[in-house]
Amino acid sequence: MVDINKSIESLNWTKEPKGLYEPIAYTLASGGKRLRPQLALIGARMFGGNEEEVLPAALALEVFHNFTLLHDDVMDRAEVRRGRPTVHVKWDDNTAILSGDQMLIEAYQLLSRVPESKLPQVLRWFNEMATGICEGQQYDMEFEHRDHVGLDDYMKMIELKTSVLLANALRTGGFIAGANEAQQEALYQFGLHIGLAFQIQDDILDVYGDPKTFGKAIVGDICCNKKTALLLTALEKADPATKAELQQWLLVHDRNEEKIAAVTALYNRLGVRSEVEKIMEKHTSIALSQLNLLPQNDAAEQLRKLAEKLANRKS
Ligand code: IPE
Ligand code: IPE
Ligand code: MG
Ligand code: MG
Ligand code: MG
Repeated sequence: MVDINKSIESLNWTKEPKGLYEPIAYTLASGGKRLRPQLALIGARMFGGNEEEVLPAALALEVFHNFTLLHDDVMDRAEVRRGRPTVHVKWDDNTAILSGDQMLIEAYQLLSRVPESKLPQVLRWFNEMATGICEGQQYDMEFEHRDHVGLDDYMKMIELKTSVLLANALRTGGFIAGANEAQQEALYQFGLHIGLAFQIQDDILDVYGDPKTFGKAIVGDICCNKKTALLLTALEKADPATKAELQQWLLVHDRNEEKIAAVTALYNRLGVRSEVEKIMEKHTSIALSQLNLLPQNDAAEQLRKLAEKLANRKS
């Protein structure tokens, strides 16, 4: 069985100029759950594929994911990730932009090592996914300043910014290992729905997580008026007076302890967390229902366990 962390460690970043490559090494050595390459490898395992053949795509997906984090942390002005200062804090914005760009190029370089007969499809999917993520990130930013964002707008936005990467990782692994079209689609749908649950859980942890285990600073979403599942559910559930109170706080734009405390108290009062957890559970169970369309083997069991683990994650 291939070791994802060892494979990532074996990528060489001791190149010049150091200012470009050191932030890449720093990011890739900082850990993380390695969820996307895990999904690619499980997808391959499900169809008896050769893991070595899937490894370049699995690594490409993880390097690509880490690239998005460098740029996302600039966009969100986030200061901590995986328990360490983010690249734009440790170095500066320009470094995060350019090292991020280079990681995107490295991701494509890794992808080019996919078996030749599979490469055109894998590349087409990868490009669709990458465009989806840019679109999702753009909506995420626009929504910060838009008044009327519905839960359905939010679901579309998180499908784009987060789910398509998980979905494509699983499908790509299965495809390289020989999954047929119906199976590719079931893998994609599984990834898409665990991705939705995953991003909703990320929104919950942003308010209720422990920064030590979560590895990120919390309440950043409240500070910058991110239209998260919690905020949109609160706006939907609140009576007119409470809604007006919440909307008053949305006019406060910078980090403000009073706002954080008030918005969190409001979420607690409205019970939005359990409401949002129900949406998560719905998507986890839609994901699990896809397993009926897939081979019932150890890999399917790994997917089942992974979906359950992610729904209860703290980091
Ligand atoms: C962070 O992804 C970005 C989101 C989609 C919420 P992960 O939570 O998978 O980050 P790492 O790779 O484990 O640090
Ligand atoms: C993650 O959204 C989406 C991408 C990184 C593409 P978030 O902004 O919620 O992710 P975190 O919380 O910073 O990891
Ligand atoms: Mg962010
Ligand atoms: Mg973001
Ligand atoms: Mg987040």
